[in-house]
Amino acid sequence: MGRMTHLAPLLTLSGGTTIPAIGAGTWPLNDREVASMCLTAFEVGYRLIDTAENYGNETGVGKAVRDSGLSRDEVFVTTKINRRWHADAVAGVEGNLVRLGLDHVDLVLIHWPNPDQDLYVRAWEGLITARERGLVRAIGTSNFKPAHLERIVAATGVASEVNQIQCNPFTDRADERAYHAAHGIVTESWAPLAAGNGLVGNPVVHRVAAAHGVTPAQAVLAWHIHQGMLPIPKSSDRGRLTENFAALDVRLEDAELAALSALTNPDYELADSDRFGH
Ligand SMILES: NC(=O)c1ccc[n+]([C@@H]2O[C@H](COP(=O)([O-])OP(=O)(O)OC[C@H]3O[C@@H](n4cnc5c(N)ncnc54)[C@H](OP(=O)(O)O)[C@@H]3O)[C@@H](O)[C@H]2O)c1
Repeated sequence: MGRMTHLAPLLTLSGGTTIPAIGAGTWPLNDREVASMCLTAFEVGYRLIDTAENYGNETGVGKAVRDSGLSRDEVFVTTKINRRWHADAVAGVEGNLVRLGLDHVDLVLIHWPNPDQDLYVRAWEGLITARERGLVRAIGTSNFKPAHLERIVAATGVASEVNQIQCNPFTDRADERAYHAAHGIVTESWAPLAAGNGLVGNPVVHRVAAAHGVTPAQAVLAWHIHQGMLPIPKSSDRGRLTENFAALDVRLEDAELAALSALTNPDYELADSDRFGH
């Protein structure tokens, strides 16, 4: 992993922390698989790894960070707290740190708002405390709708720095992204390739990709990056990790972005965070 490795540009979060413009997803890899994937990803140039308590692979991510030979401040680790920690998010983050074997994480997200238990404002207060104590450099949310985001900022005066949502051309969430942009919240896209749901096989995606001499996955990831979203595609394959990372260099025309945004798939389901959540 030489100093010549080409790295992703950095985005600046509202709290001042910088975050790479693309990351590597880790679900559903186990500890052994994820450790191997992370080391490959670091060699390719990724510095952002996305994990969660619910994925059961934080131990493997932490091992890879330690084994990578990279200094801690070169790597950006995101993890998430699940619903059982909403009443005590500091304890939740302490658990993340033990499993990761790290003394801090770069970003912690509330994984789902879980409105059924109505404790996400309390969870947000806990994450603010965790940030004040230096357990985490930046704090954010996942699967929050604008109403959830409004509520945490109204209660605490502190806005989410990142909202990680299911976002890809089949479900482009334009209104929510506009809300995020207006409030200084970075949109992180999960399922950026709509994995396994026909997006990378779609003829419109193929046409856009062919016009630029790139792969369908690169065209889709460029759609995210070009519009300021931060995609976290998952792949365990060195070739696809490399391919996905190279999407940073692809620039699409406005008409191509619009053509991708217009794609739909009636069989592709959007997880409703008012009803769903681990
Ligand atoms: N916050 C949340 O609630 C939430 C929910 C779900 C996921 N996530 C996070 O988001 C990450 C990404 O989402 P995801 O894994 O569901 O979906 P995804 O990244 O859209 O798709 C992953 C799938 O696409 C394949 N793939 C990767 N690169 C490819 C390429 N260049 N060409 C063709 N196929 C390719 C992968 O297979 P190979 O591995 O074989 O390459 C894998 O099956 C997760 O890993 C996780 O970290 C968060």
